[in-house]
Amino acid sequence: MTDTAASSTAEAFRVVKNPNPATDAERAEKLKDLAFGLQFTDHMAHMTWTADGGWGDRRVEPYGPIPMDPAASVLHYAQEVFEGLKAYRWADGSIHLFRPVANAERLQRSSWRMALPELPVEDFMASIDALLELDHAWVPDAPETSLYLRPFLIGTDVFLGLRAPKRVDYLLIASPSGPYFPGGIKPVSIWVERDYHRAGPGGTGAAKCGGNYAASLRPQMAAYERGFDQVLYLDAATNAVLEELGGMNVFAVRKDGTVLTPIINGNILEGVTRKSVIQLVEERDLKVVERDITLAELREGIEDGEITEVFACGTAAIITPVGRIASADFDVTVGDGEPGDVTSAIRQRLTDIQYGRAEDTYGWMTRVR
Ligand code: COI
Repeated sequence: MTDTAASSTAEAFRVVKNPNPATDAERAEKLKDLAFGLQFTDHMAHMTWTADGGWGDRRVEPYGPIPMDPAASVLHYAQEVFEGLKAYRWADGSIHLFRPVANAERLQRSSWRMALPELPVEDFMASIDALLELDHAWVPDAPETSLYLRPFLIGTDVFLGLRAPKRVDYLLIASPSGPYFPGGIKPVSIWVERDYHRAGPGGTGAAKCGGNYAASLRPQMAAYERGFDQVLYLDAATNAVLEELGGMNVFAVRKDGTVLTPIINGNILEGVTRKSVIQLVEERDLKVVERDITLAELREGIEDGEITEVFACGTAAIITPVGRIASADFDVTVGDGEPGDVTSAIRQRLTDIQYGRAEDTYGWMTRVR
């Protein structure tokens, strides 16, 4: 499938307007100095699936708590998958999504893995249209800000037996956001985790399901306590091969310009930013190699100057330089600890396309308003 949105059915969403939406002044206040994921718009999109009726009850309703039976399956067996994508405001005021169909398709793959029903791509796209019809004023225009869209599916079956749910809710919430890391765009430090793994062969590593992220929190807390920003996970089988960070893919740049990234192997998330970065690196006539990268290769490469840059990428993190990598037995500074040339150039190129400052030569952007 291409990145072009399928025909919209936003009209299929009935609208229940928020009786107390933020005033213009309140919204302006909330859009000031945005951090990541703290503010939310006035509405959310919602659909319900039942085993008997399929997807239906399309609506946009006031943002707020979701009444749920305490026996709902998501609360017990983590029957949940989610996505993250952004709406960008361009200088002319128009609003554009970055590769939304890729997110819609990945949501389907995640759903399949977790025995949840697949949301049609058209409904995914229409839910965004329907929500933005009401909440478009929440798309911020300050540099490095966007409206982060969080679509998710939850099992709402009222049943304590373990089975694929017979009732599922799809929700789309939207959060005007700034940089994911509180310090803005500065190199982060990474702790390499040897005792815990994010995913295992045949597990759910490739699915964007909440459980993967929950499992990353204990190691993440330990890393924070040591003064590190993020955790890099190794493969569960050998404890030697790089996989990904808690919520981001990872790349390493060699002195000769070759760019390395872990190969998609069922354990790591197929990042939309990851695949876009690969295209943008190749556009610079640099070679991208997707393969196993051992920790030994990374560490030795950084130590002897063969690897000059490391960066993480994801929708929320965009492209974040890595300045330091450590574990119990080593602690290395990447290059001079500052963002490298390739990292900075790819970040600039990607964000230029996303914010409409450069021509969208790949057809990645979908205008929504
Ligand atoms: C994203 O980058 O969109 C994610 O879902 C990662 C999450 C840790 C914020």
